[in-house]
Amino acid sequence: MTQQLVIAQPDDWHLHLRDGEMLESVVAASARHFRRAIIMPNLVPPVVTEKDAVAYSKRINQALNQHAAKHDFTPLMTLYLTEQTVATDVVNAAKNGVISAVKLYPAGATTNSASGVTEINKVMPVLEAMAEHNIVLCMHGEVTRSEVDIFDREQAFIDDVLAPLRETLPELRIVLEHVTTSDGVDFVQSQPSNMAATITPHHLALNRNHMLVGGIRPHYYCLPILKRGDHQHALMAAATSGDARFFLGTDSAPHTANTKESACGCAGVFNSPNTMSTLAQLFDDANALDKLEGFTSLHGPKFYQLPVNDAKMTLIKQTEPVQYETQIKAGDEHVVVFDPGQALYWRVESIA
Ligand code: DOR
Ligand code: ZN
Repeated sequence: MTQQLVIAQPDDWHLHLRDGEMLESVVAASARHFRRAIIMPNLVPPVVTEKDAVAYSKRINQALNQHAAKHDFTPLMTLYLTEQTVATDVVNAAKNGVISAVKLYPAGATTNSASGVTEINKVMPVLEAMAEHNIVLCMHGEVTRSEVDIFDREQAFIDDVLAPLRETLPELRIVLEHVTTSDGVDFVQSQPSNMAATITPHHLALNRNHMLVGGIRPHYYCLPILKRGDHQHALMAAATSGDARFFLGTDSAPHTANTKESACGCAGVFNSPNTMSTLAQLFDDANALDKLEGFTSLHGPKFYQLPVNDAKMTLIKQTEPVQYETQIKAGDEHVVVFDPGQALYWRVESIA
C-alpha cells in the first residue's frame, strides 16, 4: 500500500542562494518545494543596506524567472549586521517590509563573515532598537576565539554571548541558527517562545563519524561542524518533539565541488533538492511522521508571525529508493547534492 502524507507547504528559514551564475543554478531547487525562505546576506560584499536587500531580492526573482517551471517563491530578505550598522536603517528596512530579520555573524565564524561582529556590545544600540520594533535577530552561534576547540564553539557562544544577551534584552526575538548540540537544544528549551532555533537536515542525518571515519568527506564539512552522535540524537529529539521553538532551516550552502574537494575546503552542504525526502525519511524512521508538518511548515511561520502557507505538499512513500540528482551544473563547474547516507523512500509528489 502506498503511504501518503499531506502537509502545509514548507518554508526554509535559513538559506544561502549566492549570486550570479550560482544563484541561477540553485534557486529553482528551493523554489520547487519551499514557498518562502529566509535568505542569508553573506555575499561578497555582504547585504548591509536596505538598498542592497532590494537589489538582491530583484536578482533572486530574475534568476527564478529564467527557469521554465514557474513557482510561487518569496525570498525573505535579511541584513548583515556589522559594527557600522545604524539602528534607524534597520528599523526603516523592516518598516518598509524589505527585510524579515537581521543576521549576526561573529567575525571570522564562517564563509564571508569577515565584516561580522567582533564584540556584541558594539551592536547593542541596534539590538535594542530591534527589540523595540519586534525585528528578529538570526545568530550564527559560535565563538571564534582561536583557543576554543571547534567542537565547543557553540556551547561557548551560549555561555559567553547568548545567555547574557537574553538577560539584558529578554524582549529581543532571537533564532539560534543551525543549532548543533544538546547544549543548544537545552538552552532554547529553557527560554520563552520568543527564542527559537533552526535545525538543518544534515545535522539531523549525520554526526562527525560520517565525516571522518574511513576517509575525510569534504561534502559533509559545514559550520557549525557536525558533532558527536549524542548531539545528533538530541537534535532529532527536538525536531520530532512538536516543540514550536524548533523548525527547519536547511542552511543549504552551495560551493562548487572543486572548492570543497580541496586542501582547504569550503564549509557548506547543498541540500535543497532532497531536504524534504531526507526529513520525511528521518521522521518516518523515528515514528514521528505526524510531527513533520510542525517542523517544516507550522513552527517557522508562528515564530516569524506570518501566515501558514495555503498550498499543500503531498509526499509519497515508494517501495524503491527515490532517485534524485547527485549534482547540478553551475557554469563550467558543478555542485554536489547532499548525500544523506541512507536510502530515501519518500518523494515530493505535488504541491497544490
Ligand atoms: O557550512 C556553512 N556554510 N555554514 C555557514 O554558516 C555558512 C555557509 C556558507 O555560506 O557557505
Ligand atoms: Zn548558513
